[in-house]
Amino acid sequence: MPPKNKPLQLLSGLTPEQFLVEYWHKKPLLIKNAIPHFTGLLSPEELAGLACEDEVQSRIIEEINRVWHIQHGPFDDEDFAALPDQPNPNHRWTLLVQSVNHFLPEASELLQQFDFIPHARLDDLMVSYAPDGGGVGPHFDSYDVFLLQGQGKRLWRISEQTDLTLIEGAPLRILKNFDIAEEWVLEAGDMLYLPPHLAHWGIAVSDHGVDCMTYSIGFRAPKHQELATEFLGFMQDKLNQDQLTIAGLYQDADLGYQQHPAEISADMIAKVKAVLDQIKWSKEDVAAFLGTYLSEPKPHVVFNPNKKISKKSFQDKLIQLGIHLHLQSQMLFSGNLFYLNGERIVCESPSAELLKVLADQRSVSAEALSQGELDKVLLEQLRDWYHAGYLQFSGQI
Ligand code: SIN
Ligand code: CO
Repeated sequence: MPPKNKPLQLLSGLTPEQFLVEYWHKKPLLIKNAIPHFTGLLSPEELAGLACEDEVQSRIIEEINRVWHIQHGPFDDEDFAALPDQPNPNHRWTLLVQSVNHFLPEASELLQQFDFIPHARLDDLMVSYAPDGGGVGPHFDSYDVFLLQGQGKRLWRISEQTDLTLIEGAPLRILKNFDIAEEWVLEAGDMLYLPPHLAHWGIAVSDHGVDCMTYSIGFRAPKHQELATEFLGFMQDKLNQDQLTIAGLYQDADLGYQQHPAEISADMIAKVKAVLDQIKWSKEDVAAFLGTYLSEPKPHVVFNPNKKISKKSFQDKLIQLGIHLHLQSQMLFSGNLFYLNGERIVCESPSAELLKVLADQRSVSAEALSQGELDKVLLEQLRDWYHAGYLQFSGQI
């Protein structure tokens, strides 16, 4: 985790603190040579290979004679063979692969360079490939994003326009009008930070036959509507578990004669309102909701359980190898409550510090684990998580 006052090449010499104050969620920043010598983490063929896997979310976006088309993966060799192998101005295309950090340890490591933004805001690393001229067209996102250039080049155009009208009927969100305010050609290792809702357009530029690959580090900002709906669902589950919160049955021993039997009386409304007014939530409920919701795996994520292992061998291996989160695991904490893949545990023992390290750094070294006594309850918890496939011994993916 970079210290807040350390100037970073990744941020064009700004400190994380300066970046947060001046740019984050506010204005774009072009960073030349953000990651020196970065040319990417995987080849176009490896990216295409990922797009053929069932558990990987991928899209091919094509613009054929100015009409946009989208196909969702998994793809196969025939899908790729159907795409033009030579640049064709009437048929441009791009391949987009989501959550590459769930499959590639190097991608997960790359994300750690962005640890000056909380994990609760991180969405994923998307990697795109496009031959010359390809891209997803002019659009805006509701995400903060760092667009890191891998191999090849990309011409980025941005616009401060407030007209965000989209082309009607298009299968993806393309801006009807795009007024270029600024443009830059990004080369390998350069990066562009964009705040949400800023119109942009990235056009692949092949460089001596090397096609463009871009790494998008995306940060989600949940919609208020989504937070409200999910929170009410969370509270409903809580109320069902916690019968005492609103015990009892509707009572009307004081029922008076009603002129209109079909009328819902003011008295009934007041009685029900009084019951519903008992539904309260606290800061702790909101924290528990956020931890559970934001660490919940995406619907397509499936964990493969690890083979059961005895307490003794688990402890021995832990101390010998160290442990890391599975690439698809998401861990957050708030105080002494820890959330892993939507599950919550309380840890008050001194070894809670180790869990914080695991959450922050996604791993705990053998050295750190072998220092001092490991809490028995925590050890059991780690073993459960290991059995569920949420954790791996270091050296395993
Ligand atoms: C890309 O095509 O790699 C970037 C997509 C975007 O503009 O969000
Ligand atoms: Co975008």
